[in-house]
Amino acid sequence: MGEPLLAVRDLAVDYVTARGPVRAVDSVSFEVGAGEIVGLAGESGCGKSTLAQAILRILPPPAVISGGQVWLGSTNLLSLSEEELRQVRWRRLAMVFQSAMDALNPVITIGEQIVDTLRAHTAVDEAQGRARAALLLERVGIGPSHLDSYAHQLSGGMRQRVGIALALALEPALVILDEPTTALDVIVEREILEQIRALQRRLGFSVLFITHDLGRMLQFSDRIAVFYAARLVEIGPVGPVGQQPAHPYTRALLRAFPSLHGEPSGRESIGGSPPSLQQPPTGCRFHPRCPLASPRCRSERPELRVVAPDHAVACFATA
Ligand SMILES: Nc1ncnc2c1ncn2[C@@H]1O[C@H](COP(=O)(O)OP(=O)(O)OP(=O)(O)O)[C@@H](O)[C@H]1O
Ligand SMILES: [Mg+2]
Repeated sequence: MGEPLLAVRDLAVDYVTARGPVRAVDSVSFEVGAGEIVGLAGESGCGKSTLAQAILRILPPPAVISGGQVWLGSTNLLSLSEEELRQVRWRRLAMVFQSAMDALNPVITIGEQIVDTLRAHTAVDEAQGRARAALLLERVGIGPSHLDSYAHQLSGGMRQRVGIALALALEPALVILDEPTTALDVIVEREILEQIRALQRRLGFSVLFITHDLGRMLQFSDRIAVFYAARLVEIGPVGPVGQQPAHPYTRALLRAFPSLHGEPSGRESIGGSPPSLQQPPTGCRFHPRCPLASPRCRSERPELRVVAPDHAVACFATA
């Protein structure tokens, strides 16, 4: 893979609550290569958004980053001042949220928002900014007449497209997509993901892609990282992880989704529910739901271990 673009090392994030800290990201390490798409999978509440927000350092309180490093190239984002971070956000690293409404300002037009972002980071005047904003909108399939629209005048799908145009405005090296199409219908979702894919091929940025939809993730990603209860349990190239998942949780997660070819008959839900992060299970956190659990799994914590080229799994039961 060469030098990674993003390298997350031993990252830990806690939500500080009255009942004590809740660790929502627990010693997580992984990398994203230049031009690579890495999918992040896992059930609701396992810490995916917390991880994404920690990378961008936009975590709202009561969350605190308790340890680790986040390297973007040769810069550790966790050691930057707020001012230094402002130089990095949008320009080198941008995020598209589940609801673009959260990122768009309701009281100014779409055009003004894009122009503001451009002018905050580059030396363009108003006219140049507006011309560039029109090009950016065109890139995501929106006509220039919408420069003067307000976010609430657009459909959900168009708002997400504006969010993508905005994220790509300064040609960042890495774009984090946190469930960018979850609120949309299937056809609009597919169109938007295909558009992101086409732009990614053309512009060469890297993507960290978070979704509940494992089928989409398998279609879209080069590598897959699987999260369970704040920890990374498996990471590897999309082929092996999709076809020969090594972790029992990945296998269960894949079985719980309709196959890519669309026959939902084999669909099985994962028994039980994800553990509370307030008091996670001892040893391997998946052991209460795991068909392969042994006494060792209940007492000892498995670390990620390489099982095949570029493919690592945290499980004692996997050879
Ligand atoms: N404000 C908070 N106070 C305490 N704990 C919190 C708070 N926000 C989140 N958490 C904890 O962090 C965990 C991870 O939340 P996060 O939103 O990162 O999960 P997620 O994987 O993105 O879920 P989803 O798939 O539903 O978006 C939650 O299970 C919860 O225990
Ligand atoms: Mg989330």
